[in-house]
Amino acid sequence: MTGTDRHEHWDAVYTGKSPTDVSWYQHAPAPSLRALAHAGAVPASSLVDVGGGASNLVDALLAQGWQDLTVLDIAAPALDTAKARLGHLADMVNWVAEDITEWVPERTFDVWHDRAVFHFLTEQEQREAYQRALLQGTATGSHVIIATFALDGPEKCSGLPVQRYDAAGLARQLGDRFELTDTWLEDHVTPWGAVQSFNWCLFRRIR
Ligand SMILES: C[S@@+](CC[C@H](N)C(=O)[O-])C[C@H]1O[C@@H](n2cnc3c(N)ncnc32)[C@H](O)[C@@H]1O
Repeated sequence: MTGTDRHEHWDAVYTGKSPTDVSWYQHAPAPSLRALAHAGAVPASSLVDVGGGASNLVDALLAQGWQDLTVLDIAAPALDTAKARLGHLADMVNWVAEDITEWVPERTFDVWHDRAVFHFLTEQEQREAYQRALLQGTATGSHVIIATFALDGPEKCSGLPVQRYDAAGLARQLGDRFELTDTWLEDHVTPWGAVQSFNWCLFRRIR
């Protein structure tokens, strides 16, 4: 899939469906909040939500008093949905409509959060591009939270093939600058009642 195809696919998803009618929708972003708590992240931390889409994680973090939030997504319509929902609070967030494999962060973040995005990068070249952004967007000590489909999770999401991971496999992808500090499995229940196995991994950048 080319970059243009990826854009078109995701734009169509977010213009054609209600944000609550996608498999990854959560009424509350409890797993992400749990991961942030496990990592020891606090509202004074800076955070980038990579492939945040229309997720309500940003709403929850604003409610907790976080002030340095960036949401990146390839699909501008997804970000527009989140902005419309937030109203004037949207001005407190930095919105980036970009493909993560092309993004060159101009700063680093204390927390890099990615729920269900890395697993769409099924080609090594894409994963290397993600890694370049990750290295540029984090510093020693940064927390990296990535949730992918687990080895027994679905083989596809949104009609696209995914690469499934266990913690060891994801750690291999991130390389030796990142130390795995915690991991667990989560059963996500889609809005129509299907169960999807997610692999949550917390890393700390050590150099
Ligand atoms: C399964 S959804 C998860 C959305 C959000 N993280 C959540 O938990 O609700 C995947 C998201 O990744 C975005 N995405 C897919 N490929 C991307 C890429 N290469 N760069 C940035 N965002 C991407 C999609 O637009 C979509 O919003």
